[in-house]
Amino acid sequence: MTTASSVVWDRQLIDRYDLSGPRYTSYPTAPQFHEQFGETELCEAIVRSNASGRPLSLYFHIPFCSTVCYYCACNKIITANRKRAMPYLERLMIEVARQGELFDRSRPVHQLHWGGGTPTYISDEEKRLLMAATREHFNLLDDDSGEYSIEIHPGDMAVSTIACLRELGFNRLSMGIQDFDPTVQQAVNRFNSVEEVRALVNAGHAEGFHSISMDLIYGLPHQSWATFERTLDSIIELGPDRLSVFNYAHLPHLFKVQKQIDESALPSAAEKLLMMERMTQVLLNAGYVYIGMDHFARPDDELAVAQRNGVLQRNFQGYSTHGGCDLVAFGVSAISAIDNVFAQNHKQIEDYQTAIDNGQLPVARGFELSADDLLRQEVIKQLICHFELQFAEIEQQFGINFADYFAEELAQLQPMAADGLVELGERSMRVTLGGRLLIRRICMTFDAYINKSRSEIRYSKII
Ligand SMILES: C[S@@+](CC[C@H](N)C(=O)[O-])C[C@H]1O[C@@H](n2cnc3c(N)ncnc32)[C@H](O)[C@@H]1O
Ligand code: SF4
Repeated sequence: MTTASSVVWDRQLIDRYDLSGPRYTSYPTAPQFHEQFGETELCEAIVRSNASGRPLSLYFHIPFCSTVCYYCACNKIITANRKRAMPYLERLMIEVARQGELFDRSRPVHQLHWGGGTPTYISDEEKRLLMAATREHFNLLDDDSGEYSIEIHPGDMAVSTIACLRELGFNRLSMGIQDFDPTVQQAVNRFNSVEEVRALVNAGHAEGFHSISMDLIYGLPHQSWATFERTLDSIIELGPDRLSVFNYAHLPHLFKVQKQIDESALPSAAEKLLMMERMTQVLLNAGYVYIGMDHFARPDDELAVAQRNGVLQRNFQGYSTHGGCDLVAFGVSAISAIDNVFAQNHKQIEDYQTAIDNGQLPVARGFELSADDLLRQEVIKQLICHFELQFAEIEQQFGINFADYFAEELAQLQPMAADGLVELGERSMRVTLGGRLLIRRICMTFDAYINKSRSEIRYSKII
C-alpha cells in the first residue's frame, strides 16, 4: 500500500477492482450523447449561458498530423499534404463567427486551448489567421492572465514557431513526448529527440511561457522499467512544470491504426505495474506532486496550488485550474459544455464541412443534463479532483440528504472501505493514497449510466 514516502500498489487489490472504466473528463460520458440533441437545444443553452454571464473557455480542434503514431487513440487525419489544412480552417473560422454571434461579446475568455491532432501542423500564417478570427468574435484577455494553451509535437515543428505562439497570446505549452527510447519510438512510429525537446523548452522559457507540460505513455511495445527509467531521467532533467503519464489504451477494434502494434512486444501487467510504481516514486523524489489520474505537477505549478486550495477542475483536457467557465468548442468532433448541456460536432470532416457550408452549426449529437446528472457530476468531480467529499457541501448545493440519496452507492462502497481504498465517515468520504490509483472505479459507483459489460469494450483498463 502507499504512504507519503513510498509507493507500492497492491497487485491483488488492483486485479480485483481493475474493471475498464471511463476517465471522467465529462459526466455523463460521451457514449451517452444522442442525436435527438441538435442546433435548437444548443441555441437554447447558449441563451441560458449568456444570462449567467459566466466566463468562457474556448477549444479548437485541429485534426491533422503529418505521420501516424501507431498507438494513437485521438481523433486525427493523417496527411503529408499541408494544403489540406486551409479548406478546413476556412470552415473553422466560419464556425467561430457563427458561434460568436450567439454569445454575449463581453464575456471574457479565461481559458483557450488548441488540441488535436497536431495544432502545430498548420503554418504560422494560418495560426495567425485563426487567432485573429477568434479575437474578432470573442473577448480574449490581453493581459496574459488567461490560461491559453496549445499541444505541440516536438518532432514536427520549428523552434521559431514558439515565438509565434507567444505573440498570438499562448502562455502554456503541452508537448507530446511519449518515450525517448529508440526501439520504442521505432515500434510506434513516433520520433522526437531529447535535443529537439530541449531546444523547444529553452525557447519556451526565453519567450516567457508560464507553464510547460509533457505527455508520456507507459505500456508501449518494448518498454520496460529499465528503458522507461532512462526516459524519465531525461524528462526530469528537462524539468516540465506538469507531466501526464498515460497508461497506453490498447483498443485496436476501436482505433484501427493500433493493429500496427506488435502485441507480443507489449509489457506484461506485472511490468506495467512495476513501471507505474517506480515512476511515481521517482517523480515524487524529484519533487513533483501527484495530482491524480496520471497527472503530476511541481508544487508551485497552478495545478498543484489549485488542488491545495480546493478549486481544481476537470474538463475534456483533463485537470484544469479555471472553473465556472462555459466551454465553447470548435472544429470536427469537438465537444462544448454550455450551461447544462454537452454538444458534440460531427466526427467526420466531410460531415462537419457540409454542415458549415449549409449555414448550420455543425452539432451532431449532445446531451441535456437532468438535476440527478448535475448532482452526480459534482460528486464525481469532487472525488476525482480532491479525493474527498464533504456531504454537507453537496447537500447545501443540491438540497438533498446525502446518506438517503446515495444509500445504495454508500453500501456498494463498503467492500472498498474494507479493502482500504476509501474511508467512509458519517458526514464525509475520503479516497486513501492507495485508492487514488483506482479512482475511476470508485467514481463508477456514482455513475448512473455505467453498464459494466459494455464498458469493458469501450474503455481501457486502469492498468
Ligand atoms: C493529441 S495528442 C498531443 C499532441 C500531438 N498530436 C502529439 O502527439 O504530440 C494527445 C496525447 O494523447 C496521448 N495518447 C494518444 N493515444 C493514446 C493511447 N492510445 N493511450 C494513451 N495515451 C494516448 C498521447 O500522450 C498524446 O500526447
Ligand atoms: S499522437 Fe499526436 S501526432 Fe501522433 S497520430 Fe496521434 S494526434 Fe497525431
